[in-house]
Amino acid sequence: MNTIPVRVVAAEVIAEGIRLLKLSSQDGSPLPTWEPGSHIDVHLDPGVIRQYSLCGSCTDTSTYEIAVKREPESRGGSKFVHESLGVGSQLSISAPRNHFTTSTEADHNLLVAGGIGITPIISMARQFHRQDRAFELLYFTRSETHTAFRDELASGPLNSSCRLLFGLERDAVEATLDDALRNRHDGSHLYLCGPQPFMDTVRAVAARHGWPDDAVHLEYFAAAAPLDAEPQTSFDVRLARSEKTFTIPADKTIVDVLREHGTDVETSCEQGVCGTCIVKVLEGCPDHRDYFLTAQEHAKGDCMAMCVSRSLTKLLVVDL
Ligand code: FES
Repeated sequence: MNTIPVRVVAAEVIAEGIRLLKLSSQDGSPLPTWEPGSHIDVHLDPGVIRQYSLCGSCTDTSTYEIAVKREPESRGGSKFVHESLGVGSQLSISAPRNHFTTSTEADHNLLVAGGIGITPIISMARQFHRQDRAFELLYFTRSETHTAFRDELASGPLNSSCRLLFGLERDAVEATLDDALRNRHDGSHLYLCGPQPFMDTVRAVAARHGWPDDAVHLEYFAAAAPLDAEPQTSFDVRLARSEKTFTIPADKTIVDVLREHGTDVETSCEQGVCGTCIVKVLEGCPDHRDYFLTAQEHAKGDCMAMCVSRSLTKLLVVDL
C-alpha cells in the first residue's frame, strides 16, 4: 500500500476534547487533491491505523486538516493523537478516498451532523457555499464548548445556512429533525454523519417522511456493535478471475484468508464502515455484516464488504 510521509505542522484544541491537526508532506510537495466527504488512513503507530475525514479546505493541497475527538474508550487512536502528537511529529497517511460523495444533481442539500460528525460535513458546507448551491446545516452538539468550528459557523459566511443546536435531549433532537425533514421536495438530498444512535434517529425520521434511500448519504465512523454477533459458519469463496477457491473458517474473515494465500485485498477500516473492500458478487448470497451498503444494496446482494460480511450459501463467487 502506498503511503505519503507527512509532518504535523500545526496542532490545536478547537473544542472540548477535539484536537485539530494540520499535516503537510515531508518533502514539501503538494498533497493529492480531494473532494468533500473524503477520508484518509493515518498510520499513527505500528499497527495503529485510523480513518479520519479531511475537514480543511479542499482547494489547498499544501495542507490536510483532520479533527479528532478524544474517545474515553480509545483503543489507542484518539489517545495517541491527543497525547503523543505535536508540531514536527512524522506520520504516514494514505491518499484520500471518498465514499461519501455529494450529488451533483441535488437542488437542495440538507446536512446533519452530530458531534465529531461535523468533520466531513463542514467541507461539504463550504463547498456548497462556494458554489452558491442551496444548503442547510443542522449541527447538534452537547454544548457550545463541545462545538468544533464554532466561530466559523456562528459568525462566518456559513452562518446564514447553519443552525447550531446545543444540549438537546433525545426527544428534542427528534422533534427538530422531524421539522427539518418533514417536507422534502424532489431533488433534496440529505447528508448525515455522527455517532451511531444519532445516525439511527436521523435515518428513522428520514424514512418516516419518505426520503428515498438514494437521496440519503451517510458515513459511519466505526461499527457500533460487534459485527460478528451472528453465528459464524464456514463457507467457500471462489475468485472468478483466478478460479481459486478458499474455505473461510468460522473464526476468520474473507480478507484474512485471502491474505494468508497471498491475495492482497485493499482495505481501510476493516470494520465494515468505509466501503474500501466492496467487491462484486457473481454467485451466491452474501450475509451482510457491514454498515456501508444501503438496505437496497444488501437486498440486491450483488456486492459485499469482504472485511466483515460472510455467506448465506455454501459458495460465494466474487469478481476478483
Ligand atoms: S475495509 Fe472498510 S468496509 Fe471493509
